[in-house]
Amino acid sequence: MSKLWGGRFTKPTNKLVEEYTSSIGYDQQLAMQDIKGSLAHVEMLGKCGIITLDEASQIKQGLQLVEKKIENGEASFHVSDEDIHMNIERMLIEEIGPVGGKLHTGRSRNDQVATDMHLYLREKTEYLLTLLKAVQSAIVTQAEANVETLIPGYTHLQRAQPVSFAHHLLAYFWMFERDKERLKDSLKRVNWSPLGAAALAGTPYPIDRAMTAEELGFDRVYPNSLDAVSDRDFILEFLSDASILITHISRLSEELVLWSSQEFDFIELDDAFCTGSSIMPQKKNPDVPELLRGKTGRIYGSLMGLLTLLKGLPLAYNKDMQEDKEGMFDTVDTLDGALSLLAPMLETMDVKQTNMKQAVQEDYSNATDIADYLAIKGMPFRQAHEVIGKIVLYAIENKKYLLELTIEEYQQFSELFEADIYDKLAPDQVVAERNSEGGTGFKQVEYQLGLAKQHLQQ
Ligand code: ARG
Repeated sequence: MSKLWGGRFTKPTNKLVEEYTSSIGYDQQLAMQDIKGSLAHVEMLGKCGIITLDEASQIKQGLQLVEKKIENGEASFHVSDEDIHMNIERMLIEEIGPVGGKLHTGRSRNDQVATDMHLYLREKTEYLLTLLKAVQSAIVTQAEANVETLIPGYTHLQRAQPVSFAHHLLAYFWMFERDKERLKDSLKRVNWSPLGAAALAGTPYPIDRAMTAEELGFDRVYPNSLDAVSDRDFILEFLSDASILITHISRLSEELVLWSSQEFDFIELDDAFCTGSSIMPQKKNPDVPELLRGKTGRIYGSLMGLLTLLKGLPLAYNKDMQEDKEGMFDTVDTLDGALSLLAPMLETMDVKQTNMKQAVQEDYSNATDIADYLAIKGMPFRQAHEVIGKIVLYAIENKKYLLELTIEEYQQFSELFEADIYDKLAPDQVVAERNSEGGTGFKQVEYQLGLAKQHLQQ
């Protein structure tokens, strides 16, 4: 089949080259964006008198026919047409004849492909934002039911101080809130229009870039045509934001895996979100959070891949840049899958409140509170820390928890101890007291929940 650019050539393309350089296998995902961009471009060509209004309207109709064929799965894409842009142009010419060849006036595949990707990422970013919101609402639902559920809070994965389980869950709400902010902010730059930069230098035709930008819902045009066709920062930004987001997902997933182990036994994931073992009949494996945790690899990989691709690349378009797409598509799909699963998995997970409570009672995580008790009674905190360290050691050696020591035992370590120490040590009290702003005290957690809900309504 002859090439759309065949005029300068005397030999057909080597078959291997054709396959190697073709991107139609994956960039057909940009078909709808490509048509949208072409419709805006051809409308502008007509209005600016670069082609006649009649030609413009024939081309528009033709593009709509092609669009329908693609939507109905009736279009056949050819490797020999290299990419989505030339496949669509070929189909257009097949539909309406040689006038279809006027579509590409004043434009190049270089500004065309950049435009397609801007449109694609805007749509997908907006979609992913809605999925993120659903995950946040699942977190809020579980948090609301668990304000007074206590769980050990950890540092170094050693029990540190008890916290409200809602507080622990809401930590993830705010991570996802920042992810949303980052993605929304990136839209400012996704919304720059490269269309009309043509191959690299602009075009002699009296085009109107503001008109196509507005038609496509962009906020502004790239002020520099070289930058417009060379810039892939907006994809880098998306992949960076995605990398941070999947990091958050992997941290949460890791906790779900830990918590559902027999060693922790704090939660049970719904059967619908677990799988079994082909050999060990007793197993219920948390495959979903494990996979979510593992998906970080491919997203970081795509970010590193694109950074490396762009490093040292001279202006303007280079064929290397065709490699910008698969990582982006894969990242969108990976996040789509991850966020779609995360929300219902969180919503349906069973929180084993009794086991959490028991864990909180069977540890020394109220030790700081006894130190505070002595400090409030006038002992310097550093000295109180030392005294309590000795008490904990004594308790461990005598196989008792701090609530189980008698007042006489306490008084052996300091005369400042009185009977009110036991009120201070009850885990509910320990949590309730941490009422500093953003702390785990129940009042603070209620306030935080209110804030979270406000953010969800925005
Ligand atoms: N398929 C190409 C890509 O994705 C489109 C741009 C091609 N431009 C060119 N001058 N060969 O990068």
